[in-house]
Amino acid sequence: MNDAEALKKIAGEAACEFVKTGMRVGLGTGSTVKYTVLELGRRIAEEGLEIVGVPTSIATQELATEVGIPLVELGSLDGLDIVIDGTDEFDPNFQLIKGGGAALLREKIVAQQSAAMVVVADERKQVDCLGAFGIPIEITPFACDVTVSVLASLLNCQVELRMSDSKHILTDNGNCIADARIGPTITDPVATEASILNVAGVVQVGLFNNMCDAIVLATTDGVTTLMKPNGRL
Ligand code: A5P
Repeated sequence: MNDAEALKKIAGEAACEFVKTGMRVGLGTGSTVKYTVLELGRRIAEEGLEIVGVPTSIATQELATEVGIPLVELGSLDGLDIVIDGTDEFDPNFQLIKGGGAALLREKIVAQQSAAMVVVADERKQVDCLGAFGIPIEITPFACDVTVSVLASLLNCQVELRMSDSKHILTDNGNCIADARIGPTITDPVATEASILNVAGVVQVGLFNNMCDAIVLATTDGVTTLMKPNGRL
């Protein structure tokens, strides 16, 4: 395991401290929170932890099933106690860019239903200003090129549809996904999120504002948990 992978594992596992028996847990998507899912599965099998999970992607659903986490439909619950998820960037105000793995729509639906959100990250994700990582935007297949042009004009930057073998990459929801290469310039992520959501054809945007309550951060010096002042945890 290389250094970057080791940091992901440390952060992913440490976040399990937030999970207690009886909780309804949102299970995020990505290569860091994968270690959370694996560790929760281990605790269920070896330590008698009792939880139910709601996955944020087909990939996480498959992994959680494999490791024995009981899964339920989000609609069958009256909300979730916590969601643990990864991030592509976080800023000093705990605002996030997510969706590098194209799971942003389900991730945001689950996060909005959660009483608290814990993010797992390594030090490469910490930024002063969001935007060096392009903003992932899920858009409808209908007239996706038009939507992309509108977004490029609105944001005054390059917006690229994700492609594979000359075909649009589709999300778990059957939509296209694009990345807005805006650069580290997002000083008002709430306003940026609102303006992108205002474009017809946009299904959701990977700016997660005022959702994250704690960040379990792995650095080469060890793991530390950043708690949002006046957050929900
Ligand atoms: C999935 O769409 C994303 O939001 C991920 O949570 C995010 O990209 C972080 O993924 P990694 O932990 O793999 O970097």
